[in-house]
Amino acid sequence: MVEAPGVQRGLEDVVALESRICFIDGLQGRLIYQGYDIRDLAAQSNFEEVAYLLWYGRLPTAAQLAELRERFGLLRALPPSLVDRIESMPPESNPMDVLRTAVSALALFEPEEAKPGASSIGGAQRLTAALPTIIGTFHRRRAGLPPLRARPELSQAAYLVYALVDRDPTELEARAIDVALILHADHELNASTFAARVTASTLSDLYSAVTSAVGTLKGPLHGGANERVMELLNEIGTTELAEAIIQEKLARHERIMGFGHRVYKVEDPRATILREWSRQIGEAKGNMRYFELLRKVEAVVHREKGLYPNVDLYSGSIYSLLGIAHDLFTPIFASSRVAGWTAHVLEEYQDLRLIRPTAKYVGPTDLTYEPIAARG
Ligand code: ACO
Repeated sequence: MVEAPGVQRGLEDVVALESRICFIDGLQGRLIYQGYDIRDLAAQSNFEEVAYLLWYGRLPTAAQLAELRERFGLLRALPPSLVDRIESMPPESNPMDVLRTAVSALALFEPEEAKPGASSIGGAQRLTAALPTIIGTFHRRRAGLPPLRARPELSQAAYLVYALVDRDPTELEARAIDVALILHADHELNASTFAARVTASTLSDLYSAVTSAVGTLKGPLHGGANERVMELLNEIGTTELAEAIIQEKLARHERIMGFGHRVYKVEDPRATILREWSRQIGEAKGNMRYFELLRKVEAVVHREKGLYPNVDLYSGSIYSLLGIAHDLFTPIFASSRVAGWTAHVLEEYQDLRLIRPTAKYVGPTDLTYEPIAARG
């Protein structure tokens, strides 16, 4: 579609608001959370610390981090009636639909006075603690696994693995998931965060904002891409076939999932880090198939289209090697991005202005109303 003068389709390059939370340098391939480079955070930090950083704008002290970990442990359990509802959802449901419905329902099960602050950091902590439980509750039921326990001794990363595959991760696996959670925790005004901020800008509550965000993340052009990457790898099968299959897809003008980005014009720094983790986990498992396929696909797509990998290219290979079902990849993304969504909603409440752009009207304005009897 041709862009009409004065219209920024997809709001590309439109600066919609000021934020202190996240900075993306799309030309240098840098990502900064509250002043800290993602590469330093991925190398040295953990998801709990990053969530604290996004919410409070500063790194926690050891005591503050311990307190947050304790709170996550306490806030993981869901109201029993919500557990019943999740367990009675059709097992063939899309887990993102389950997540969206359960996040929305969680607000109903927590009356205003019981909610740890519907529009406060308490609500942000509750939702961040609860998302892995929601996904785990649904998945365990459909997979016939034993019911989930809150396991307060586990980090969010280790709890997520336990919730989804019913075993404790190795140290390396837990670190790989922790890094993935750090890398997905925020990304400025991506579509789902923007959806959350639009909802919050009407003075709606945090749970409604996160419900909007989950629905937005579900789409394959956003969070749904990592699941599609694994479908592609399974379709390709062996490295020898990668060239021909990718060429065919490009000739049909199909999008190759896990490539391209609205903001990054160079390699997404998250892809650089996850590529290395994909290699490490592949080596630890003695299974380099996904890694080698991805390297081949990367080479063909870059040569043919000049496109770089985004965060979604390598994450699925790591999750798959841990035994996590493909349709849980986007919910894992949500379990991390919820920290960013809620940080943005809290920021929106601090400096609230209704988000309401305008459209360039291109329809007629002078039609004459015809009574229904005259319309034939
Ligand atoms: N595969 C093939 N071609 C692509 C891809 C891709 N993945 N991405 C962009 N292109 C091409 C487009 O076809 C277009 O080519 P044309 O000018 O010849 O028509 C050109 O690159 C520009 O593409 P746009 O769609 O205008 O770029 P936009 O900024 O709107 O798209 C997006 C960004 C949606 C991420 C796109 O790159 C895409 O569809 N990627 C695949 C889905 C994906 O991996 N999403 C995850 C993104 S990261 C995240 O949300 C967590």
